[in-house]
Amino acid sequence: MSKVEISDSIRYIGCDDHTIDLFESQYKVPNGVSYNSYVIMDDKIAIMDTVDSRTTKEWLDKLESELSGRKPDYLIISHMEPDHSSNIGLLGEKYPELKFVGNAKTFQMLQQFFDMDISNRTVEVKEGDTLELGKHTLQFIMAPMIHWPEVMMEYEKTEKILFSADGFGKFGALDTDEEWACEARRYYINIVGKYGASVRAVLKKAANLDIQMIAPLHGPILKENLAYYIEKYDIWSSYRPEDEGVTIAFASIHGNTKVAAKKMAEILKSKGQTVSIFDLSRDDMSEAIEDAFRYDKLIVASPTYDSALFPFMEDFLYHLKIKNYQNRKVGIIENGTWAPVAGKLMKTYIEELKNCEIVEPMVTIKSTMNAENIEMMEKLADAMLV
Ligand code: FEO
Repeated sequence: MSKVEISDSIRYIGCDDHTIDLFESQYKVPNGVSYNSYVIMDDKIAIMDTVDSRTTKEWLDKLESELSGRKPDYLIISHMEPDHSSNIGLLGEKYPELKFVGNAKTFQMLQQFFDMDISNRTVEVKEGDTLELGKHTLQFIMAPMIHWPEVMMEYEKTEKILFSADGFGKFGALDTDEEWACEARRYYINIVGKYGASVRAVLKKAANLDIQMIAPLHGPILKENLAYYIEKYDIWSSYRPEDEGVTIAFASIHGNTKVAAKKMAEILKSKGQTVSIFDLSRDDMSEAIEDAFRYDKLIVASPTYDSALFPFMEDFLYHLKIKNYQNRKVGIIENGTWAPVAGKLMKTYIEELKNCEIVEPMVTIKSTMNAENIEMMEKLADAMLV
């Protein structure tokens, strides 16, 4: 791949990982992921975060090559999650004069992850503090809960670069040529989605800065049309729907609920709606959650199982709940052969979600979809579109 360029004195030393099976042991990353790290070469040298232990050797080689024999002065720790912090201990041993730059919470976590003596090696910063490197100055912006409490961002004043931690991150290695929004949305909704209020607080602070480049800890460095990315973050963090359309999430044991879900999709499409449909037993959960957030309407369809919800639907609704899903219209289709309770249980879940309107009628299928069910689904579709 071509070298990632930032500027003469700010160099990219991150690594692509195409071998990881599941990011954070839960997210499929068909095009891998990048662990971004940077080094600022000035009178003082600052390393901006480390990388996951999966790519330690490649990262160290890149770092040493950029240093050309000089010794780094600071390690800026934006985030203590191990995909960025794994090499703090190793770096501390290799460069005994190196100072660690973080906030009070950073150092508390550092001592939990690493059994090392950091006394006299810490530079503790708080909101608005600056660190002079020579021509470059880093200004620290606290960004708690994006998506850990110790997270902070740095604004480099001379080159006007925002080092945005996980913010503006994306799945997909840097040598992957793909649309930014799709995998950035899946990343945001699933990893940061719960913390919309925290993201909005940082966006407000960032609005006062002249930002020419955004350098996240995952995914491409954003250099042009920054308003586009900031607008996406504004939408996602406010829990506003991004597009008009319907996500249909169904669980089906023997295929009968699936038939109904597909019929529902057909009805909605015939009324001009964009429909995104997921088989929760088989499709990727993070994609289903992503589209539930993307579109303004959701239909859930599930059979009853063991006098409860079919587990894949339970899992989907649980994900919506913990990701703070809100502000959507939701329709319900249930199925049951002798004592259907799925509808009632789905309703209970949805009632707990903030500002989610349950749209009537709820459709109840007894084993297989019949003409009366189709009539009810037509009514549900019309009611969803009001
Ligand atoms: Fe990329 Fe929250 O770590």
